[in-house]
Amino acid sequence: MSDTQGSIHDQWSSRFAFILAAIGSAVGLGNIWKFPYIAGENGGGAFVLFYLVCIALIGMPIMMAEILIGRRGRRSPINTMRALVVEEKAHPAWRWLGWLGVVTGLLILSYYSVIAGWALAYVFRAAAGLFTGAAAETVSAQFDALLQSPEAMLAWHTLFMMMTVAVVARGVRSGLERAVTLLMPALFVLLVILVFYALYEGDFARGAAFLFHPDLNKVFQHCELTESGVKACRFSGEPLLIALGHAFFTLSLGMGAIMVYGSYMPSNASIARATLAIVVADTVAALLAGLAIFPIVFANGLEPASGPGLVFQTLPIAFGAMPAGRLFGTLFFVLLVFAAWTSAISLIEPAVAWLVENRGLARIPATLGAGVLAWMLGVGSVLSFNLWSGESFQVFGKTWFELMDYLTANILLPVGGLLIALFAGWVMSRTTSCDELGMGDGPWYRIWRFLVRYVSPSLVVIVFFNAIGLI
Ligand code: PHE
Repeated sequence: MSDTQGSIHDQWSSRFAFILAAIGSAVGLGNIWKFPYIAGENGGGAFVLFYLVCIALIGMPIMMAEILIGRRGRRSPINTMRALVVEEKAHPAWRWLGWLGVVTGLLILSYYSVIAGWALAYVFRAAAGLFTGAAAETVSAQFDALLQSPEAMLAWHTLFMMMTVAVVARGVRSGLERAVTLLMPALFVLLVILVFYALYEGDFARGAAFLFHPDLNKVFQHCELTESGVKACRFSGEPLLIALGHAFFTLSLGMGAIMVYGSYMPSNASIARATLAIVVADTVAALLAGLAIFPIVFANGLEPASGPGLVFQTLPIAFGAMPAGRLFGTLFFVLLVFAAWTSAISLIEPAVAWLVENRGLARIPATLGAGVLAWMLGVGSVLSFNLWSGESFQVFGKTWFELMDYLTANILLPVGGLLIALFAGWVMSRTTSCDELGMGDGPWYRIWRFLVRYVSPSLVVIVFFNAIGLI
């Protein structure tokens, strides 16, 4: 039984509510916006295969570890780590793990909100019928027009951040819980409709082959479109790191989001079963998005490696051509905004929980403070697509947006996840983790412990060193 004393949080109303909230956090822009475009930039099949291996061997065990740590501590990540350090007589430096999560969450939220702003803009574009009958070039030009307007992007970014702050500040999460039950399945249905469209109207065979036919040469080949529109590829271990980083990003792992949600989870619920449900939902969403997008890419002569605009340059073509496309298009972007919203809430939550618990702030000022900080950092990402896109504004050849994305997804989340695995596998006593996971001391528990102690940490370390060229 876990120690619930000292907790100032409510618990989720049921086991199911925890799973819903965690799915809300996991399924978001990562699945529908990011997965397709990074799969496209990294050659498809082999990258997808490696991503799936990372989900199974690293994502699942570490998600169980993160939920378990959160439920044991029952506080914000920072205080959870503090409490567990005492309970397990661990080195005080482990407390920094909680801090790492707060910082990573705010950095991710800063650019996440900018991209969610694009989705907001697209709700109105779809509703206005802008895509009806539009050809690929028109759709691309429409997207470029958005990027070229810092004012518009800033306004949408601001609106999305306000939506996030409003929910977190007022704690109307119970309403969201109910909405997730309705809207998440709706998003899945729309994705399936889009896959059917792609099946009949797109180049489905090529799209599916691109995603699922692994060509191992390609996974070590990282391609980008240069400014002049030429595809430049080079060999490096970087795609593996991008796939690994995305496994953390898409499952919301390594920064305390799942830890916070775990801290509200009832003690009698099964962590393993919850994890399985979350991982399956998340992976299916990403694969459906890929299957909807790539057939359209190939049927229209578009470039799979065209970068962060991929979703916004492909799906509108489908909405423009299908019956009732205006309705479906509007609905799709509404649901995408909603999916991003439930993820953004979990990105800001570790920071807010800490401000409330440790700084004695009330929820509203705490959320406002965190939101303003993330908003300001996000302005750099808004400008990365226009005024600051030039080389003179780049660091290590990356714009501010690219830097934030790379730093958080490919470095901070894997490091956070690695530390979580080491803490749950090596620092926590066997009795604690066995008791908290509640699946007995049988083969399943042993497999988990083996993965979290040896397999996940060494894979993360190997991929890291490989990417920076050390092995
Ligand atoms: N998992 C979310 C997505 O795929 C993003 C996220 C990352 C949310 C980390 C919380 C923490 O869109």
